Amino acid sequence: MNNTPTVLIINASPRGERSLSREMASYFEENWLTRLPDSKIIVKNVGTEPPPFVSEAWIAAVFTPPEQRSATQRKLLEYSDQAISELKAADTLVIATPMHNYGVPAALKAWVDQVVRIGEIFSFDLERGDFPLEPILSGKRMVTLTSSGEFGFTGNGIRADWNHLHPHIEVVSRYFGVSHSWQQGIEYQEFGDKRFEDSKAKSFAAIPVIVDEVLSSFDREKRLPLANAKTLEG
Ligand SMILES: Cc1cc2nc3c(=O)[nH]c(=O)nc-3n(C[C@H](O)[C@H](O)[C@H](O)COP(=O)(O)O)c2cc1C
Repeated sequence: MNNTPTVLIINASPRGERSLSREMASYFEENWLTRLPDSKIIVKNVGTEPPPFVSEAWIAAVFTPPEQRSATQRKLLEYSDQAISELKAADTLVIATPMHNYGVPAALKAWVDQVVRIGEIFSFDLERGDFPLEPILSGKRMVTLTSSGEFGFTGNGIRADWNHLHPHIEVVSRYFGVSHSWQQGIEYQEFGDKRFEDSKAKSFAAIPVIVDEVLSSFDREKRLPLANAKTLEG
């Protein structure tokens, strides 16, 4: 963990105050700051301020050596440069997202495409055989906080096969340098019944526990400064 613990929160919901995933992320932040008040929290609202989509010119800029990029190409990569520096700075990544059409919202996918960039986030070498891509970053923790209108997307749930949200995030998180991850999701939002209320209560109750587990996982690596380790015990 950095000397100043840094959390990057990606809010992918297009909804503001009413967003359940955003509410979960805020609660995570609140709990985190109770444990480590001197942390830096970077909040990126990709759902309400969507990243640009990649274009052919963007791809060409990425594959142009940095010292040869034109002013136009540097401008095209500005969003990506900023998003990558935020990810690199963070030791903990929180992805707060709704399920949209059984997968990630387009704005979150656009953020992923801006971030996962050759030479910055992964290296490419055909000498590695069938797996030429290797992540450059490592040791990050990721917490995925989700909300869905329907239910049964995890374990042996009735819609587990329809879930392209969590598996997608887990697969790409390899390139974010994630070594440990946690997931918590509210389901049943569209039913608005007791099952929804129970699912919401269960998810909020899990958040402080996840915060503790994330911090303990850093502690186990003995990377936490002593003062913070004491805070954990107290
Ligand atoms: C465009 C759109 C697509 C959605 N697709 C799904 C879906 O595939 N499965 C599902 O269970 N809920 C779906 N929902 C419901 C949302 O996942 C649910 O309302 C969730 O609480 C939204 O999260 P938020 O409150 O953080 O915005 C969809 C909602 C929208 C607006």
